[in-house]
Order: sequence, then structure tokens, then C-alpha cells
Amino acid sequence: MIDTPRTSPEPRTPGRRGRSALRNALVVGATLALAAAGTVTALTGTASAASTLAGAAAEQGRYFGTAIAAGRMGESDYMSVLNREFDSITAENAMKWDALQPSRNSFNFSTADRIANHARSQGMKLRGHTLVWHSQLPSWVTSLSTNDLRSTMNNHINRVMGQYKGQVHSWDVVNEAFEDGSSGARRNSVFQQRLGNGFIEEAFRTARAADPDAKLCYNDYNTDNWNHAKTQAVYNMVRDFKARGVPIDCVGFQAHFNSGNPVPSNYHTTLQNFADLGVDVQITELDIAGSGSSQAEQFKGVTQACLAVSRCTGITVWGVTDKYSWRSSDTPLLFDGNYNKKPAYQGVMEALGGSDGGGTTGGTDGGTTGGGDTASCTVTYEQTERWGDRFNGRVTVRAGSAPITNWSTTVTVTSPQKISATWNGTPSWDSSGNVMTMRPSGNGTLAAGSSTSFGFTVMANGNWNAPRLGSCTAS
Ligand code: XIL
Repeated sequence: MIDTPRTSPEPRTPGRRGRSALRNALVVGATLALAAAGTVTALTGTASAASTLAGAAAEQGRYFGTAIAAGRMGESDYMSVLNREFDSITAENAMKWDALQPSRNSFNFSTADRIANHARSQGMKLRGHTLVWHSQLPSWVTSLSTNDLRSTMNNHINRVMGQYKGQVHSWDVVNEAFEDGSSGARRNSVFQQRLGNGFIEEAFRTARAADPDAKLCYNDYNTDNWNHAKTQAVYNMVRDFKARGVPIDCVGFQAHFNSGNPVPSNYHTTLQNFADLGVDVQITELDIAGSGSSQAEQFKGVTQACLAVSRCTGITVWGVTDKYSWRSSDTPLLFDGNYNKKPAYQGVMEALGGSDGGGTTGGTDGGTTGGGDTASCTVTYEQTERWGDRFNGRVTVRAGSAPITNWSTTVTVTSPQKISATWNGTPSWDSSGNVMTMRPSGNGTLAAGSSTSFGFTVMANGNWNAPRLGSCTAS
């Protein structure tokens, strides 16, 4: 088989521009529909693309994704952060073998489809995770004979990739096939036992035929440190695949870090060396145990390492909020349990060159605010009333994981709209009169996680678009 060289991603879903246009259309449509029905509309503030993870990553030519759990999709805060911040989704569990083929030849795509449909409706990319893995594998698979296991593995790949053909930008074809430790050996999975070393390349060849447009990845953990035996073993496999024309396009680095397995100082070297084999690299399941500025620095370092490698095409964090993380006691994600942006978020944004959307890292850090967290805030908009000529808006300002004593944010209306009244805040205006900066009016002091709100009236003058919010800054 000829291995066609593949270069950086050709988005099948709308890119950043397309996606924000789609989103604006959806937002405007939803606003009008709900406003007409007299319903309150809740929108989150996004001043520009570069004030979100996805927007800032897109400026760098990368995607920024998250894993999501289908069971959380009914929670509005979860969904609004997902939709606002990310442009790629991985199903945390819903595309694993036990979810999709719980009994032999009986496929259940309903939960995975809900995730895929959400990604499509938002113009987000979809990462496929995962086709062949020893874990979350139903017990019926482990008792198959060699021949049955071979046809079952290939059938699983064909059916699942067929279901999401044209939608998944990258598939983790084989996950975690190497042992930890110093042996550099293949993991003793049922696939390895019955089919031998060749199962990995067979899976990749089947996958290429099943969806020739999807990028095919090998995905693993503890492959971050260039000096580790496992890293070398995976590298040698990929080099061999490229030399022999086995179809492989990318290597996924799970990047589950903690104090026992910290971000290595040679991370960039590892990513670059793999990329130099002629594959893309992706950070696929990033989470880093910790808090405060130390966690922020590590997230920043991982992001910088990816940006420094032109073939590092994107980063996925392994969940939206600490409270639903598979390792929630490690608080390893970018949003805390109340969906506040953590210093880790700002660390990523600093690396991406985006505006951090709330506070700065290091500012009030140093023990005075308890737990070492920095002052930050987030803003949310909702329309509260509407009349024939005007509407009222309310902005909720919420403190992050540290208390704050001051905040400010901007509200931008579109000419010929005019803000005709405000309450519960101190406004100032730019020269156009369209951008209002709002500061507290006796409501600047907020406990961690608590909120206040201010309000205003917009004379529509024929334009009923929702105003746009800028980032919230706090001290
Ligand atoms: C984890 C999920 O986050 C958990 O909800 C589930 O119980 C176990 O699997 N490597 C992987 C992921 O490739 O699929 C794992 O996800 C985390 C480790």
C-alpha cells in the first residue's frame, strides 16, 4: 500500500471564521426567537475569537478540544463553557468498544451520535477515541479465538469508522499498546496474545480503508519524556511503520501529568522528534494535577511545546471542569467546579497569545488570597425584558476561585443601537459611544465564586442583536 504524505489538517468542519459566523447566526436567531417568545436568553460573553481557548488556538493554526461526557450534556453551564471555549470534541467514553459494541455484532451508536451531532451542530471538529484498546473492552472479546478476534477487530473498525466517516478528523486507532517501565515491550493485551505484534499494523491498514480521509493516530501515555523506554519503543514502531508504508498519520500524547509523572523538560524534543518522522502530533488527553501558578506554568509549558512544533496540530484537555474529571481530586483541568477560569486557563492563554478573559497569573498569588489563587472574574449576559423599541440586559459578574475587590468589563452595542440607561454599575464610554466600560458601584467586592450584576437598557433602533461582552478583569 502506498502511504500518501499528509500535511496539516484540512478542516472538514467550518474553520474559526466559519464557526463563529455559524455561531453568531445561531445566537442571533436564538435571541430573536426567544425574545419574541418573551423568554430570557442567556449568552456568554465572547468579545473576540482570541478571548477563548479555541479562538486563540485558531490564531496559531491549532484546534483546542475537550473530552466530554454525554451524561453532562443536559447541564447548561457545562454546555455553555463547552460551546464557548472549544472547537474539537472527544467522547470521553462513548466511542469506546464497550459503549459501541457491548455484545457481539450488536452496535449501539445512540450516545456517541449525540456527541457527534452536537459537534456538527456547533461546527466543531470531532476526535475519534478509540478503536482498539485493551481497556473498556467487553469480556466477550477476550474469549474469542485468534481468527474470530481478527475478524471482530476489523469489523469493529469498519463499522465504527463507517458510522462517523467524514466527521472524525483523527482517530485513535490503537490505544496504549505498550508496557510501562523500562522493558519497551508490547502490552500483553488479548490482541497482542492472539494476533501478535502485527495487530497494530493490521488495525491501521483496516482503518485507512474504512475512512481514507481520517487521520490515523497511535495514542499512548508516559511517552512524553524522550529518555523513557516506552517513548523510544513507540518511536521505533512509528519509524518502522513510516519506513514500510504502514498507514499512520499522527501520534497522540495523552499527557496525564502529576507530581510522579511531571511535564518533562524535554517535552518539546519528544514532540519534534516524532514529527520529524513525518507524522502529526497531537496532545490528546491533557490534564495536570495541581493548582494555582504551578499548575498554570505547566499548562503553559505544554502549550508552548505544542506551538513550537509545526506539526503539533492541536490540544485536547480531558474534560471541561474539575468536578467531572476522571481524577477530580487532582483538580487537573482549566475550569474549577463552578466553571470559573483557573490560573491554568490563563497559563494556556498566555502561551496562545490570547486575551485571558479574567485576571492575570501571578498577580495576587502568594498566599494572601488563600490557596494561592489569583483574582479573576467571568461575565455572562442575558436579556431580561423586551418592548417594541428597546430591551433590557443584565450582566452577571462572577468572581473566580479567589475573592476580588474590583472588576471591570465592556459591553459593546452595534450602531444604531444606543444604551439609554444603566443601573448597579459605573459606566464610561469610548468616543463612538458604542463601547461601555462598566465598573462597580459599591458592588466591587465579591467572595470567591460569588456574583453581582448590573443592568442597562438598549434602544434597538431596528437592531435587536445582543450586545457583545468583553473579558472581565479583576483585582
Ligand atoms: C478514562 C475516562 O476519563 C473515565 O471516565 C473512564 O472511567 C476510564 O477512562 N487513557 C485513555 C482514556 O485513553 O480513554 C481514559 O479515559 C484515561 C486514560
